[in-house]
Amino acid sequence: VPVETIAWQGGHAGHVRLIEQTLLPLRHEVLEVKSVPAMVDAIKRLAVRGAPAIGVAAAFGVVLGAQGRTGRTAREVLDSALAAADELARSRPTAVNLFWALERMRAAGRRAAERGPDGDAVFAALFDESAAIHREDREICRRIGQFGAELLRDGQTVLTHCNAGGLATADYGTALAPIYVASEQKKRIAVYADETRPLLQGARLTAWELLQAGIECTLITDGMAGRVMFEGKIDAVFVGADRIARNGDVCNKIGTYSVAVLARENGVPFYCCAPLSTFDPTLADGSQIPIEERAPEEVTEGFGRRTAPPGVRVYNPAFDVTPARLVSGIVTEVGVIEAPTTAKVEAALRAGGRSA
Ligand code: MRU
Repeated sequence: VPVETIAWQGGHAGHVRLIEQTLLPLRHEVLEVKSVPAMVDAIKRLAVRGAPAIGVAAAFGVVLGAQGRTGRTAREVLDSALAAADELARSRPTAVNLFWALERMRAAGRRAAERGPDGDAVFAALFDESAAIHREDREICRRIGQFGAELLRDGQTVLTHCNAGGLATADYGTALAPIYVASEQKKRIAVYADETRPLLQGARLTAWELLQAGIECTLITDGMAGRVMFEGKIDAVFVGADRIARNGDVCNKIGTYSVAVLARENGVPFYCCAPLSTFDPTLADGSQIPIEERAPEEVTEGFGRRTAPPGVRVYNPAFDVTPARLVSGIVTEVGVIEAPTTAKVEAALRAGGRSA
């Protein structure tokens, strides 16, 4: 594991430990999260971020909300869990893993509450479900890495955008997983990391974790991606996703769409790596995906220094949608969906036990 991004510390009365990602790469500090408001705040501030990690954080957040004295009724514990889930659902809108994890937690709580009046049993069920979500994410990252590594040959160079690595998941990451697995297979893979304006997840997080892992990494600003592809330096693009519609339209960090267009123009394959929990089977295409808009200060005075005139109007969408036609393949834990279509995505969801 490159880094321990998020973990539950202790037993039923425990709490969450996560890497405070806003301080990277200058400081590597752990944040102890002990309440639902603190978890909502951590997700909003991007102390924990990346779709799968947000899902795990939300599941743990529900457990924090359900904690309390023993001897409560099942209804009491369930109600506190459901209230926590509602609060956590308002933290960030785009990554569907958040809502997927919350739904799993709600269902686990309701099932346990139907089995009997014992509140402690409901709590135990919630605790176990959060642990399962965390554990499964690790296994899924490994499988994505295995399938994705088959797309990479010794000596190749990958371009990535944002951070879809260990810091965005409970393990190897999604887009970086194939690179970690290929490296373990003794293939030499080099990475170009887009800086990723405005919050610099590529510079601060991807470059940091790749250096930690001993993988060759070259940092570029977002506007340089076209140039390095034109120069023939890039063999494939690997990115993650925050939400994928049923037709294979991919929503990911702002700037991903530009990278996909540039990849197509330059004949470079564009792969998206994501677990099935990142698919939103309720959306026929990407046009209905809610796109988070963040504070203008991220653009005008990111990291404390003003770089735009006061009073200028700012537009700051945090994500964009890459149409399925630009996607060479989506690497999931059940295999690669090549040239995604609705039928192929639905088949993959069925293969993974998710109804389409
Ligand atoms: O705003 P962020 O940092 O949460 O955005 C993260 C991304 O866009 C990632 O690429 C995506 O969540 C996939 S992480 C495996």
